[in-house]
Amino acid sequence: MQALVLAGGEGTRLRPLTLSVPKPVMPLAGRPFLTFMLDWLSEHGVEEAILSCGFLSDGVEKVLGHRHGSMTIEYVVESEPLGTAGPVRLAHDRGLLADRFLVLNGDALTDLDLTAEIAQHERTGAAATLALIAVDDTSSYGVVPTAADGRVEAFLEKSPGPAPTNRINAGAYVLEREVVVRIPPERAVSFEREVFPSMIGEGLYGYMAAGYWIDIGTPERYLEATYDLLADRVRSTLPPRDETGSLVGEGCITSGARIGPMSVLGRHCSVGDESVVERSVLLDDVRVGSECVVTGAVLAEGVRVEDGARVDEMAIVGAGATVASGSRVAAGTRIEPGVRVDAGARVR
Ligand code: GTP
Repeated sequence: MQALVLAGGEGTRLRPLTLSVPKPVMPLAGRPFLTFMLDWLSEHGVEEAILSCGFLSDGVEKVLGHRHGSMTIEYVVESEPLGTAGPVRLAHDRGLLADRFLVLNGDALTDLDLTAEIAQHERTGAAATLALIAVDDTSSYGVVPTAADGRVEAFLEKSPGPAPTNRINAGAYVLEREVVVRIPPERAVSFEREVFPSMIGEGLYGYMAAGYWIDIGTPERYLEATYDLLADRVRSTLPPRDETGSLVGEGCITSGARIGPMSVLGRHCSVGDESVVERSVLLDDVRVGSECVVTGAVLAEGVRVEDGARVDEMAIVGAGATVASGSRVAAGTRIEPGVRVDAGARVR
């Protein structure tokens, strides 16, 4: 089986983290995000992945290369963003797609059963089958109601008030070639807004998926996915965590500090005496001085937090920024890459 992974979005909601690292290879629990997706695809018999990239595509190729275990990886790079369906047309026009293939949104962490989705697709003779996942709160998603036999009845945009179903599009599709020819060539096209709504009543089915699913596209959900991986709420091949449920990368120096619970330190980080890092993610080469407090925050590569500084809940500090001594980055603040927060300052 072949899978095309959509990995060309700009990831604006995850800025400033995605200004220097493309979202598909953002480290999650110490590994490039897409490696979790490639593991999952491999478990379900995918032998060939086509990564559809645009934004910062060199970064993706450099990190993932051309093989993942026994799976081959090819790249299709677009010069203009083509949306979610346009890249499929481009790959088809370059002769890369088989008669039946999978398409995945490249920012979901999931263990849903693709094998069962493919089996249903074959049974129904569908042109397209979409995995639909139940969520508790539908307010930030469109919903997809289906008939008893699984046929999709509508694509409803997100709207206030009660939704007719809590099933949302999980961004995991099985498609036949006949769907590709419905995608206009050489322009941005959306599956969700154009192609699928035009296929209602014409072989478009939903597969009721169960299991874990989250899209890591916002800081809140990036951290939630991190905690879920650390706590084994989603199946993965992560190495064992320490007694605080944390993962500390190679070459870190943390004696004298309290790390955890539920934290991830990348490679070559240091945290000084009497400092606390809890429920936080430090990417590679982050230095935290002594008597600092970092809680529920994300510090990108090369960030410096000097003695006595604090970084609060859901603050995101961009690559190479400095939080100088005694300063405080308040909850929810985003600090741009390379910026210096002055000693003693309070930013919010
Ligand atoms: P935001 O800017 O934060 O909305 O993120 P995003 O750009 O990634 O958009 P969104 O989350 O809606 O995208 C869903 C999936 O489609 C992600 O895996 C994106 O990488 C991918 N994607 C979005 N737009 C494009 C595009 O123009 N080209 C390609 N190849 N992939 C895209």
